[in-house]
Amino acid sequence: MEKFSGFYKLTIEERMKLLKSECKLSEEEVKILLDTGSLSHEAANHMVENMVGATHIPLGIAPGFVVNGKEYVVPMAIEEPSVIAAASKGAKLAKECGGFTADADEPVMMGQVQIVGMGKDALAKFEKNKAEINAKAKELCAQMEKYGGGLRGVGARILETNRGSMLIAEFAVDVRDAMGANTVNTMLEGVSPLIVEKCGGKARLRILTNLALLRKVRAKCVWKKGVVSEEEIEGILDGYALAANDIFRCATHNKGIMNGIDAVAVATGNDWRAVEAGAHSFAAMGGYRPLTRFHKDGKGNLVGEIELPLAVGTIGGSIKTNPVAQISLKILGAKSARELSMVMAAVGLAQNFAALRALGTEGIQAGHMRLHGANIAVIAGAKPEEVEKVAKKLAESKEYSAENAKKILKGLRGG
Ligand code: MEV
Repeated sequence: MEKFSGFYKLTIEERMKLLKSECKLSEEEVKILLDTGSLSHEAANHMVENMVGATHIPLGIAPGFVVNGKEYVVPMAIEEPSVIAAASKGAKLAKECGGFTADADEPVMMGQVQIVGMGKDALAKFEKNKAEINAKAKELCAQMEKYGGGLRGVGARILETNRGSMLIAEFAVDVRDAMGANTVNTMLEGVSPLIVEKCGGKARLRILTNLALLRKVRAKCVWKKGVVSEEEIEGILDGYALAANDIFRCATHNKGIMNGIDAVAVATGNDWRAVEAGAHSFAAMGGYRPLTRFHKDGKGNLVGEIELPLAVGTIGGSIKTNPVAQISLKILGAKSARELSMVMAAVGLAQNFAALRALGTEGIQAGHMRLHGANIAVIAGAKPEEVEKVAKKLAESKEYSAENAKKILKGLRGG
């Protein structure tokens, strides 16, 4: 993976050549990546209603992510500068310390059937007929059994609300390598008539929960003292303490984590809104708190950990119809949804580590504005061969405006 060092300095052609050989991409796959409008109208038209085009988000890679001893090149789709650079930096320093360890629960999703207007004995009736309801639900997700998944549990509870008592029936399904929304929702709609027949009332909502509490993933890294300076460690711990004690900081702390996790979700064709909903509702259980934790071990090393629910798939949804998602999964080389989720958790932790390290010491604006300068140069009309030079001069002047970029351009062109 040393081959990827200095990746950002290569021309796009050189990057593609390296990616092609390292990730065994075909000519066709390279062509798709180079064509930033590669989602065909036909494919897009089958993905959403009223399709009129496609918008573009840059796809980059963060190489050198070592998770459970395996090294990954991580594809990340994001429009924000610095995110990929920060993830790569966190991963590089983690690699020098042995990388990340991670583990993930079985891919079990939960769904709810809401029954309203039932009698007082509805819960007792549910319990009495549980075996039959269980058998029906099991039959409805039987296709998952072929892959080692299927129904894992059934239960019910009464919920008191301002609209009266409701019976909430809950189902747990192992969805294997899918995100699982379609499997679970289809089963819930299929089983609800039987619940109504046995318990009375009327079925309303039949939908999975994005708080995928049975599908959590954890990652950890011990950044060694020396690889990270004592001052940086103290800065990270102070920054973490602010997030752990202040909701205003905590929102941004978790946002930074999700910068990385969402970028991998988007690159791999996953439902990042579901990932977001799961992460933030999990963070809010018992009071909104950081998704990561940091402390110093007895030797003065920095221990970072992350835990969150991650409902992501490597099959199903729009993953198959989106060629870039397919190629991203190939670049990543994760063999299962669980493996993908473990890498994503490591990316979230690396992202947070890198942000706290920069924020606690020199600040993030210097690095961020360097990249932003290139954007401004393009806006000001710089040609590709002029962009770097204009960005550099913008950074030196510390005045990041299109006006200034135009002035610099004029100077460069001898005007
Ligand atoms: C910006 O998108 C993300 C950060 O604000 C995260 C953080 O503050 O931890 C840099």
